[in-house]
Amino acid sequence: MLYSEKVFDHFSNPRNVGEIPDANGIGEVGNAKCGDIMKMYLKIENGIIVDVKFKTFGCGAAIATSSMATEMIKGKSIDDALKLTNKAVVEALDGLPAVKIHCSVLAEQAVKSALSDYYTRLGVDPLPIVGPIGVVECEE
Ligand code: FES
Repeated sequence: MLYSEKVFDHFSNPRNVGEIPDANGIGEVGNAKCGDIMKMYLKIENGIIVDVKFKTFGCGAAIATSSMATEMIKGKSIDDALKLTNKAVVEALDGLPAVKIHCSVLAEQAVKSALSDYYTRLGVDPLPIVGPIGVVECEE
């Protein structure tokens, strides 16, 4: 089978879908090749991500990886969220087909983009903390 059970589960029943009206970090990233878009909403209090939601016009792998990524950062510190890699998300999902690995970068970048927005709102330059947010390449 091409996709793991966990990928199917998170695709058919994605966690944390929606918007947070009073989010204090909102990120949006797009995939250059496929045109898929992801929006990530964070509610941060005292350096902890107390709530996270996402919306995507994306493929199944993008949905499953963002769903898993939101579960992995909810309740965690900003520092922990910054350490989240697409590789860790893919591992938590028991893998993805090679051509779909790039889709998982969308989730990682959306989290970083939202954290970048959070720091910008505080008047802090996000670049030294969050790093650059690149264009996601997807092989489709
Ligand atoms: Fe566009 Fe997966 S994110 S095909």
